[in-house]
Amino acid sequence: MWQADPLRDPFESHAPSEAKRAVTGELTPDDLEVDRTLRPQLLSQYVGQERVRENLRVLIEAARSRNEPLDHVLFSGPPGLGKTTLAAVLANEMGAKLHTTSGPAIERTGDLAAILTNLEAGDVLFIDEIHRLNRSIEEVLYPAMEDFALDIVIGKGPAARSIRLDLPRFTLVGATTRTALLTGPLRDRFGISFRLDYYTVDELAAIVERSASILDVQIDAQGAAEIASRSRGTPRLANRLLKRVRDYAQVRADGEITWEVAAEALGFFEIDELGLDWMDVRILRALTTTFRGRPVGLSTIASAVGEDTSTIEDVYEPYLLQRGLIVRTPQGRKATAAAFEHLGITPPPDK
Ligand SMILES: Nc1ncnc2c1ncn2[C@@H]1O[C@H](COP(=O)(O)OP(=O)(O)O)[C@@H](O)[C@H]1O
Ligand SMILES: [Mg+2]
Repeated sequence: MWQADPLRDPFESHAPSEAKRAVTGELTPDDLEVDRTLRPQLLSQYVGQERVRENLRVLIEAARSRNEPLDHVLFSGPPGLGKTTLAAVLANEMGAKLHTTSGPAIERTGDLAAILTNLEAGDVLFIDEIHRLNRSIEEVLYPAMEDFALDIVIGKGPAARSIRLDLPRFTLVGATTRTALLTGPLRDRFGISFRLDYYTVDELAAIVERSASILDVQIDAQGAAEIASRSRGTPRLANRLLKRVRDYAQVRADGEITWEVAAEALGFFEIDELGLDWMDVRILRALTTTFRGRPVGLSTIASAVGEDTSTIEDVYEPYLLQRGLIVRTPQGRKATAAAFEHLGITPPPDK
């Protein structure tokens, strides 16, 4: 049975998900450890996402002054942008206890019932990858979110009857890499919904500097900026690159991360100037070389690069679109002139 254990780190309560595998390959236990030590605890430590932060600040203050739990909140956006972090920050700021689970971890309606009946008034329940809940479980969630009620069916066949249990008022926080995969009824039950965007280089540099000071690493502003500019707009990746560059600086330099050290280390680790990883590059190569700049369907790209369509759509495509390296057309995805230029490939004459 699911039980909140205050001594256990809530972020380790489920295995790294597919979405978390993110950005450049598998997350190792070491990465999770870094994620945890560097995770901001308060809104004031959370860098960037100005609009989200300001809105949350107001909503939290209003709820607190009414002495009520916050309305249910949905966070969406690509992996590594700070959804899980915000769930924890939100619970901290509300002074609420956080319970963490994920869509795939809830296998039976009974699992969800156990979680819900364990909540106390004001608690925050965080469901990561909420789009992966199965439908029958979602249906248990509707009355829980709307009326703070749990409908339980007792018995089977004609003798079956349903009883309704009252639940304490709690806040559900959901996170998803793609809102489009959420069913309408579930989406509608969130009073508040935020989409997280990729971070600017300045914001990422601020995150790198904050992390460096927590990890006790010497870094100058140019070093931080160099790591930031190759972090694919993603804080998790910025922190991972910082760690790798630190290791490099310890072994190959005197430990301090300057611009030279950062550039040399990132070159050594084959991180491209845009922070593209090998799968990003594979996708671009397929679009520019195999398909010669023609529009291609998602599933064709997926089989050309050997990755599943949902990972391409959730993890890789949003950043490539944002950087203007690919575009979506009604006929499919295609490489832009910028992609040919980035790879140093001459576009075919008709492009
Ligand atoms: N706004 C932010 N400011 C500072 N660090 C951040 C921010 N967002 C994310 N991070 C860092 O990136 C890591 C990954 O964030 P996380 O919340 O796990 O992303 P997601 O749940 O969206 O995949 C966190 O451990 C944290 O160290
Ligand atoms: Mg997360």
